Amino acid sequence: MPATVVVGTQWGDEGKGKVTDLLAEEMQCVVRYQGGHNAGHTLVVNGESFKLQLMPSGVLYPHITPVIGNGVVVDPLVLLNEIDMLESRGIDCSRLRVSGNAHLILPYHQMLDAVFERHLGKNKLGTTKRGIGPAYADKASRVGLRMQDLFDESIFRAKLEVVLHQTNPLLAKVYNKLGYEIDDLVSTYIGEYAPRLEPYIGDAIDVVHNALEAGENVLMEGAQATFLDLDHGTYPFVTSSNPTAGGACTGAGIGPRHIDRVVGIAKAYTTRVGAGPFPAELFDEIGDHLVDVGREFGTNTGRRRRTGWIDAVMLRHAVRVNSLSEISLTKLDILDALDTVKICEAYEIDGERIEAMPYHQTDFHNAKAIYREMPGWNTDLSNCTDRSEFPAEAIAYVEAIEELVGVPVTIIGVGPGRKQVVHFNTTP
Ligand code: GDP
Ligand code: IMO
Ligand code: MG
Repeated sequence: MPATVVVGTQWGDEGKGKVTDLLAEEMQCVVRYQGGHNAGHTLVVNGESFKLQLMPSGVLYPHITPVIGNGVVVDPLVLLNEIDMLESRGIDCSRLRVSGNAHLILPYHQMLDAVFERHLGKNKLGTTKRGIGPAYADKASRVGLRMQDLFDESIFRAKLEVVLHQTNPLLAKVYNKLGYEIDDLVSTYIGEYAPRLEPYIGDAIDVVHNALEAGENVLMEGAQATFLDLDHGTYPFVTSSNPTAGGACTGAGIGPRHIDRVVGIAKAYTTRVGAGPFPAELFDEIGDHLVDVGREFGTNTGRRRRTGWIDAVMLRHAVRVNSLSEISLTKLDILDALDTVKICEAYEIDGERIEAMPYHQTDFHNAKAIYREMPGWNTDLSNCTDRSEFPAEAIAYVEAIEELVGVPVTIIGVGPGRKQVVHFNTTP
């Protein structure tokens, strides 16, 4: 059976967790395919809020097999704490399967992330300081440790010797920090974490392919987003993995022919945490209003998110690089009280109107948003359950996005709750 991918189309925090949880009802397996605990996905079910960093957002349904794929970087303690948190709230996590090929985030990755950022000073990227970049860098340099290494002490020690041979002097000589002792890491990771993690670790590819072969529905849950993608994002202000739909193939071990639906999640406005260009950014009271009403503070780090209008140029690019079949538009309710709403439909760069994503990053930095302005709806949408209950202005706003972006808007979010959605258009 085919697989569905859920992918962020902006700079993260679009509501991927909520939409994944919603779609998971029809799925049997939900796979996280990249990123790590830099992600923060919030689900609200019957008024109860769940904040997930590593666990796939389908975990709340008893019929789902949640899988952490090979493309994810895992901090074992964060995973164990998340399992404990969910179990203490009555969610059974015994079905979780974690790929033995997923790389480990170790304490020196977190330390390197912090000292690199400090060294960059005012040019810092604004990372989540979770060790994501250094862990993926070690993976690419072939000196990373994987989940499966937790179960063979001699391999674990041998790999640590190789990586610490270069990492400890770097920390000591360049950044004036203490290095890490192999014995300490062995005692914590192999002595404490490995026995607790063992029941969950295995061959995730086998789990996913058995599900596909059995005709089950598999959902690939992306973290981060298209414009935080290492290849397609606003480099270097990106994360170190591939959240775009192609990442679902490498990060879960499936070929592209299995995927037949790619749902791009877009907030009805735009937010960004951390540094980097943002053409439709707002610096006025409307921007503050979006932060206040939309509660735009990071699930993960608590940082205030930067806000702006929705950007159709970015979304058109996201359609291309992910082959989006549709857009799920979240947080439409946050625009309820505005007299006018705007959509960035093109950029002005050096006096010229540009409708496609500029290939040169400097142009993107200098791009000025050209807006289509539309009347607001001044209506509380949070109780709407059907398109027919939407005011004409809200329908016009969504239809303008469809026209500018070129794919249908299917699911619209009108509140944080699982049931606060309106099915606007059917999947093509
Ligand atoms: P993710 O990282 O893409 O999963 O998104 P986050 O969970 O970090 O941020 C989205 C926030 O918006 C969460 O607090 C959600 O509960 C909330 N949310 C999601 N969809 C909607 C919606 O349609 N309306 C409102 N008001 N809140 C929403
Ligand atoms: P979810 O899955 C929003 C941002 C950081 C920083 C950049 C690099 O909840 O949408 P990293 O720690 O990954 O090296 O940081 O990426 N970032 C996110 N922003 N939502 C996220 O995840 C993010 N994960 C990373 O703020 O700018
Ligand atoms: Mg988030």
